[in-house]
Amino acid sequence: MIEDLVVGWDGVLCSTRYDRETGAFFVIAVHSRQRGPAAGGTRAMQYETYADAVADAMRLASSMTLKMAAADLPMGGGKSVIALPAARHDIDDATWQRILAIHAEDLSILNGSYWTGPDVGTTAEDMDVLHAASGLAFGRSERAGGPGSSAPSTAQGVHVALVRAAAEAGLDDLTGRRVVIQGLGAVGMDVLRLTRKDGAELIASDIDEEKCEQARELGATIVPPDDVLDLESDVFVPCAMGGLIDLDVARRIRTSVIAGAANTILTEPAVGDELARRGIVYAPDFIANSGGAIHLVGREVLGWSAQEVAAHIEGIGATLGEVFEQARATGSSAEHAAHVLAESRL
Ligand code: NAI
Ligand code: PHE
Repeated sequence: MIEDLVVGWDGVLCSTRYDRETGAFFVIAVHSRQRGPAAGGTRAMQYETYADAVADAMRLASSMTLKMAAADLPMGGGKSVIALPAARHDIDDATWQRILAIHAEDLSILNGSYWTGPDVGTTAEDMDVLHAASGLAFGRSERAGGPGSSAPSTAQGVHVALVRAAAEAGLDDLTGRRVVIQGLGAVGMDVLRLTRKDGAELIASDIDEEKCEQARELGATIVPPDDVLDLESDVFVPCAMGGLIDLDVARRIRTSVIAGAANTILTEPAVGDELARRGIVYAPDFIANSGGAIHLVGREVLGWSAQEVAAHIEGIGATLGEVFEQARATGSSAEHAAHVLAESRL
């Protein structure tokens, strides 16, 4: 199984490590260094098998390569995955600190070929620890001299993307339009706040009841997690996990627009073709969710001010416009056109 993954992947390097004391399994996938050192977040969560963790790291690293290229940032693509022995909230601090120390050691071994940052299961404070030990983490807290979490910028970018994609579908005004948000974490909750300002009808879902309550207070109607893909909506905003839309879902989902933060939303490129065939406007995830990368690389590598970062996040709208135009001109899906755009920069 792992052999199949390695043989079937076009990346540069994939490291794995197991720590007997904690039971944590570490993966770093470096997909491309063509545009600069590889970069990508550290995802810490439970996986059913170690092969699933390796597959996730590889898929996410490939997507980071496309994200950096489409946003014209001078970085390659990589990703860290830490397969945890228990749910993150059940891991005590001493164990978590040991896990971070091991990950920092792996970063140091890669010696600058790969930089990490926050992702699902890690925070700006975790980046403080990784950076102190390795010097190779973006997204430290402001208290530690970093630019802070990438999530607010990612949410800004997702909002720009969903507004642009809605316009492409003929929905110039979101007032009263039904927007369904899946996942109310660091990004999803901020997207909800931004979409609320547009006057949209908000429907939201999370597996965490506390987050649902927070969204309810912001005016959202909460639905059970299993129902989101069956609801009719104007805009569907996936902000939880990837691998959500396969061919079967693409054939039946009742929405006009899909634009969200989740990485690797589509299970395969053919899903993008099916969405296009059905006239559903899809904002390719690696463009829609590039606000976080723009924030981290902009602030920490390119020395941009917060204003410059904000201007580049607004630029996500223009990049998507280019992709939609190319898709129309060539009769291809937006997903395909986005790949062509990113690959032309590699
Ligand atoms: P997070 O961990 O803060 O939030 C994820 C939320 O999804 C959690 O509240 C979780 O309970 C919920 N969730 C998980 N499974 C669910 C399900 N089946 N149904 C409903 N809710 C479910 O993560 P964050 O930072 O908000 O990221 C969300 C997604 O966006 C991830 O896929 C991440 O890789 C991606 N992303 C995040 C960026 C960032 O800057 N934080 C940047 C680019 C992409
Ligand atoms: N994990 C986030 C993403 O997928 C933010 C990030 C970007 C982290 C770039 C590191 C480097 O975009």
